[in-house]
Amino acid sequence: MILVTGATGNIGSALLKELQALGAGPLRGLTRDTARAAFAEGVEAVVGDFAETATLKPAMRGARSLFLVSRLGSDAEIIEAARQAGVEHVVLVSSITVQTHPHLGPAHENLAVEQLLQDSGMAWTILRPTQFASNALWWSGAIRRHETLRVPYADIGLPTIHPADIASVAGAALTQSGHHERTYALTGPERVTPRQQVGAVATALGRQVPFAGISRAEAHREMADFLGDEAADAVLDLTGGDVNDELLKVRDTVSRITGTPARTFQQWVTENVHAFR
Ligand SMILES: NC(=O)c1ccc[n+]([C@@H]2O[C@H](COP(=O)([O-])OP(=O)(O)OC[C@H]3O[C@@H](n4cnc5c(N)ncnc54)[C@H](OP(=O)(O)O)[C@@H]3O)[C@@H](O)[C@H]2O)c1
Repeated sequence: MILVTGATGNIGSALLKELQALGAGPLRGLTRDTARAAFAEGVEAVVGDFAETATLKPAMRGARSLFLVSRLGSDAEIIEAARQAGVEHVVLVSSITVQTHPHLGPAHENLAVEQLLQDSGMAWTILRPTQFASNALWWSGAIRRHETLRVPYADIGLPTIHPADIASVAGAALTQSGHHERTYALTGPERVTPRQQVGAVATALGRQVPFAGISRAEAHREMADFLGDEAADAVLDLTGGDVNDELLKVRDTVSRITGTPARTFQQWVTENVHAFR
């Protein structure tokens, strides 16, 4: 039995499909609301909330492998619950910031979860993806309302990754040998700037999307309202204000592990253009 957490999310939903296609055996998807989750036939939906570790016990019962998204509750308690339930192997989604920006708060937190898992006694595989293509969904409301998008660092390109590629690597790690005690930095196949991303969405929509590059200070004012000062600074550093060679590097990890080239941002747009209409 494989338990997939974040099962309704970008990676988890793709992972469940991937595991079904691979014939990976019994699958369970964790969600806080089974009524909203639309899992495929054959996937058992289980209720659980990371914020209340006790709710995870029934979900973990009988699971031998766990796909874990983190930092949504007490990761120490969650990893201990998995160990007690008899989980043998955990595939963890961490972040490339652990190696590119270890001084930032979110990177510290991800590193702490990695260490908890490595010390747990369970086998582990750690995935460190870069920025997701699906982050473009943050713009979807403004694009649907035909508002001007206001974007900082418009011409700095990062090797954005399609979440389905993270799922493909997770699928390989969960079903093939040779992935225990491995840490994989994952990127897309090319760097894409925000201006190019919006251009790809505009082309797919068949209309112009009004776009304005804005300064860091302007972006910080707008983001700090809902993220807080520190998180807004971290996002701005990671999206252009303090990028470094490690973050900009295009890696071949996805194709090496899956045997298939990493998906492009363009492919993600083609699959998700409905979200911007
Ligand atoms: N976006 C990026 O650029 C980036 C980069 C590196 C790492 N990451 C990490 O990647 C992970 C997965 O991202 P994603 O895009 O696949 O997820 P997502 O689409 O944002 O969905 C979030 C998932 O987490 C679940 N969830 C949220 N709060 C929960 C809680 N309290 N208890 C149990 N489940 C909860 C949701 O399930 P329900 O709503 O169904 O309960 C949903 O399935 C995240 O943890 C994120 O930190 C993201």
